[in-house]
Amino acid sequence: MCGITGYIGDHKTTDVLIDGLRRLEYRGYDSCGVAVVDAKNELYLRRVSGRVDALDELVAQDPAKGANVGVGHTRWATHGAPSEDNAHPHTDCSGRVVVVHNGIIENYLDLKEKLLASGHKFKSETDTEVIAHLMEEKLKALHVQEKAMRADMLEPVFFEAFRKTVGDLKGSFALSMVWASCPAMVLTARMHSPLVVGLGKGENFIASDVSAFLKYTKRVIFLNDGEMAAVKKDGIDFYTFQGKKVSKEAVTIQWDSTMAEKGGYKHFMLKEIHEQSEAVENTLRGRLLPLGGDVLKAETGLAAAAMKGFSNIQFIACGTAYHAGLVGRGLFENFGLRASADIASEFTDRAKLMAKDTLVIAISQSGETADTLFAVREARSAGAKVLAITNTVGSTLTREADYVLQTHCGPEIGVASTKAFLGQLAAIYLVAGHFAAARGVLSATDARRYAEDLLKMPRLIEETLELEKDIAKVAEAFSHSEHFLFISRHINFPIALEGALKIKEISYVHAEGYAAGEMKHGPIAIIYKGMPLLAVAPSGRALELMAGNIEEAKARGADVVAIVDAVSRKTVKASRYITLPQAGELFTPMLTVIPLQIFAYYVALAKKCDIDKPRNLAKSVTVR
Ligand code: M6R
Repeated sequence: MCGITGYIGDHKTTDVLIDGLRRLEYRGYDSCGVAVVDAKNELYLRRVSGRVDALDELVAQDPAKGANVGVGHTRWATHGAPSEDNAHPHTDCSGRVVVVHNGIIENYLDLKEKLLASGHKFKSETDTEVIAHLMEEKLKALHVQEKAMRADMLEPVFFEAFRKTVGDLKGSFALSMVWASCPAMVLTARMHSPLVVGLGKGENFIASDVSAFLKYTKRVIFLNDGEMAAVKKDGIDFYTFQGKKVSKEAVTIQWDSTMAEKGGYKHFMLKEIHEQSEAVENTLRGRLLPLGGDVLKAETGLAAAAMKGFSNIQFIACGTAYHAGLVGRGLFENFGLRASADIASEFTDRAKLMAKDTLVIAISQSGETADTLFAVREARSAGAKVLAITNTVGSTLTREADYVLQTHCGPEIGVASTKAFLGQLAAIYLVAGHFAAARGVLSATDARRYAEDLLKMPRLIEETLELEKDIAKVAEAFSHSEHFLFISRHINFPIALEGALKIKEISYVHAEGYAAGEMKHGPIAIIYKGMPLLAVAPSGRALELMAGNIEEAKARGADVVAIVDAVSRKTVKASRYITLPQAGELFTPMLTVIPLQIFAYYVALAKKCDIDKPRNLAKSVTVR
């Protein structure tokens, strides 16, 4: 995970780097740092164990003078505890080569052993530091007379040493490097970790994600695996790791930087919860009608005729995106179409069983989740086609999949995923509807009703959001509980899992999501008097059984909050109700999840947790 930034230009370099880090903090936030080359060609390096605000304060106390090139980093620890020593940037022994890195250098122990034997002194426990020392070795091997040469004459040397360094690395990396002796160029390289450059006028940017520099430019170029770039003030050249020059096209990003700001909300999570109606509407717009026609073909490459050729649907994803996949499985099965859903990190053996008639649907907000990408590669090499559902234009997933369906949720900053989940559901309902209609499973009348029901969802989501104050009161009543149960059945079972995940990740309490029918096979034993149990029980075929399961839990002391609609409320007996607008049975997950997101938010707020940046987590999980 981790976020990297790089800059060369005339703006105040530390400000650009730190501002970028703030926007990348969602990728990791246990420590951070910046390094710039100052007017005297000396390295200015500042690092802190903690958040970007602390780094900003430290830099403000003793600012860098005259710097116009540098790199920055916000870390999610893998090798070495979160501490100032392990924070990036890392330097070589001379203190003039400086590197920031996102990913894992798998052969770092081997490299480190050799470097130690050659006399290098290490200052951290990280895998990253080997890169700086390796670079020092490569520079030494090129017999550079650093002091006797003009900085511009050092550029080819810097480039060649960097290229050789990168060639020795195994694993995943997006890295950027500055050499104080050659301050007119930043070098950057990518292998299995996201990396993008931003094109400015007389200035250029490097980052893990475009949000870091959108404020300055929307023209960007994404690097592919095995590519590196020499970034100067007036231009960027791209190369393969073998040193062959490549030409690359710039794309313009549609997001603007204000979309990644809180807009008056206390937390990004709450803002994003309130953007869910828009996320669904934007994701559905222009893609639904005629259901079963070729409306997705131009955009995604997936034609209705191709839909007829797949006899299996396989969802793969992680975390919240996996829960969306579980809803998708239920939806496809409801249409009599064979479907499975797997956690990407547990897919390895099953991937080998994928065949040509399987459409793998890989869901990922970031499009950079390492487990999901690995599963996609395995499935494709076994012969399956892959449809990516992602919120991130230009992400690795979009480049590796056969078909791409972009969700239009806007940037999601809160680590706890909310609007991206609704966007994923909208995309899945779209695809499932098109499949069912294309394959003749839905009659013309049913297809019309399905489309009408789906198009009502943005409005019903708005109505559900109006319940925020009532839900907040219920949450406050339970904010001292340390254990929570979430149960449901059928198409809402994944919502019970999602409710439990939301509260766990932002409130640090113990929560279990269970299939209601499974409770009596063991988990019911954990119920004690007063234990909060959130039962997702909208109208539909599972209602009678759900009502029974709720009675069983109550009989053992559970304090039940029922998520119902006006019709199901008559059947369910609970101590508290959250009553949602009436939706078509299949579409209820798009509503039932919302009170659980809001519930989790207000429990976390009462517990004074760091809602947008929960402990131990990062938004993009780019390591396996
Ligand atoms: O970017 P992705 O959708 O691939 O991320 C997958 C999970 O890491 C993500 O959904 C995670 O579970 C969220 N923090 C949940 O809120």
